[in-house]
Amino acid sequence: MCGVVGYIGGRDAVPVLINGLTKLEYRGYDSAGVAVLNDGRINICKTKGRIQNLQDKLLVNPLQGHVGIGHTRWATHGVPSDENAHPHPSGDRKIAVVHNGIIENYMEFKEELEAKGYKFLSETDTETVANLIDDYYRSGMDILDAVFKVLDRIEGSYALGVLCSDFPDQLIAARKDSPLVVGIGDGENFIASDMPAILNYTKNVYLLDDKEVALIKADSVKIFDADRNEVKKDVFTFDWDIEAAEKNGYDHFMLKEIFEQPKVVKDNLSRRFDSNGKVTLDGIKLGKEELANINRIYICACGTAYYAGLIGKYLIERMVRIPVNSEMASEFRYKEPLIDDKTLMIVVSQSGETADTLAAMRLAKEKGARVMGIVNAVGSSIAREADDVLYTLAGPEIAVASTKAFSAQVVAMYLLTIHLAQELGKMDEKTTMEIKGYMEELPSLVNNILAKVPVIQRLTQKYIGSKNVFYIGRGLDYIVGMEGSLKLKEIAYLHSEPYAAGELKHGPIALIEDTTLVVGIVTQEELFEKTVSNIREVKARGARVLAIAMEGNKEIEKYADDVFYIPRTHWMLAPLLANIPQQLFAYYMALGLGNDVDKPRNLAKSVTVE
Ligand code: F6R
Repeated sequence: MCGVVGYIGGRDAVPVLINGLTKLEYRGYDSAGVAVLNDGRINICKTKGRIQNLQDKLLVNPLQGHVGIGHTRWATHGVPSDENAHPHPSGDRKIAVVHNGIIENYMEFKEELEAKGYKFLSETDTETVANLIDDYYRSGMDILDAVFKVLDRIEGSYALGVLCSDFPDQLIAARKDSPLVVGIGDGENFIASDMPAILNYTKNVYLLDDKEVALIKADSVKIFDADRNEVKKDVFTFDWDIEAAEKNGYDHFMLKEIFEQPKVVKDNLSRRFDSNGKVTLDGIKLGKEELANINRIYICACGTAYYAGLIGKYLIERMVRIPVNSEMASEFRYKEPLIDDKTLMIVVSQSGETADTLAAMRLAKEKGARVMGIVNAVGSSIAREADDVLYTLAGPEIAVASTKAFSAQVVAMYLLTIHLAQELGKMDEKTTMEIKGYMEELPSLVNNILAKVPVIQRLTQKYIGSKNVFYIGRGLDYIVGMEGSLKLKEIAYLHSEPYAAGELKHGPIALIEDTTLVVGIVTQEELFEKTVSNIREVKARGARVLAIAMEGNKEIEKYADDVFYIPRTHWMLAPLLANIPQQLFAYYMALGLGNDVDKPRNLAKSVTVE
């Protein structure tokens, strides 16, 4: 949730840290700070608010030095304030710490340290870590031993950057259940909780594994496992362009990412089908034999990724005819799920670091399941721990609201469904070739929808005063509505609910009044008549209706106030197209309401705490 960055080398540390924090601001933006070591002293500048506030403060009180750590925060313990902002120093400023994650048992240490005379200036769990390292260090331990000792005692998750004023030539980093990489430069090194923070300087990194600790100097990096044995790691090279983490002329990352979708869809389809229509998924070793050994499938994820999983469940059940349980990762662990070595667990995640998804996956693995990750972030924890990985080639997604990653996940679900159907003899060549033909059209169909931005802008202007928004549909249309509703909530802050159209009469129709907007999704032709009767019911109660339908469906114009047409396609591919106007609708609604689209309130990208 928070962003961590660190630098050691020949450059002035502050500009490097600020540059990194700006790139990480999507991970948290309620306060920010930097600590720099100079002349044996740790100097700290931190403040409530955005990185710009920190930059303004640094203009008045500039900091200099060649080693430093920085942080942008999404508050967990304590309100956003100057005091609670990171970095946190120990009482005498010998140690300074930045931290992403949650230390669950910090109260225990706080009391212990208070009894020894330590005073606490913040309400955070992180300050206890700084003081605890200080306490062990003062007792005569080597600084690295002191860090290890603290890591042995703390419970929870962390990506930590640690400075000690007695060691101006080194920086210590550690991680558990929270991402952290060590960036490798020439005569300089970095740490970052996410790659965009250091992409300007290097693409080469060491991916730290859980409980590893790195001792970083300008010209060397040593990594130790939890038993303090030095480990040799391979250098991992990211092939992302620097431009991928820039806005490139768009007003917001979200809009840029929406417009990247034709390319994302194309990249995800490229080289997947052979000339006979057979789907090959690199990284997935699930042939007939392996599938014969599987009697239960779970698809587990959070938020938008969960909705992509629901599309996967629908398609696999309908087209491959095997039952699939789709589960929210945050619920999964607490229901004693039925898992054994005949279970296939599919986890879906953009970041590959979502705490609940990771925990669900680990539980399944522990109980013997085979685990498949459908992941965007290369080298992330889920990607590294899964048995099979299907990468969703969407490039870095910076906007908090997920758009292109969802489209890539949906394409992955299409491919997986076809792959499973082919392996189990449930799809003949004629059907495959037909779907393949439709899929190859998808990038240009997405482009056609993006060309209709002015239509969406006009619709948002018309409906901007709505007090409540219902997204209704049946089957795949209902699932797409869930994603549309989530986007509207998270960036437009509009109350909205997705509802299976047939369920309205069982209660929620009581909420319909003339300030209600109902988005009726009617791309599934076999369900059209049914959904239309529900649309008529809400119209009769005063709601205004905006429909999303496939081109050629003139009938819907009789019942809806407005219709947004998506190009005609195969029924299974309609969710991908129907979601694009929903993304644009949420975007322009949020803009119209004056919201900060890329940094919506209370949210942060990548939920690495439970
Ligand atoms: C919504 C959104 C979130 C994420 C969810 C899972 O726009 O971004 O709902 O989809 O937090 O994140 P990942 O996919 O990183 O596991």
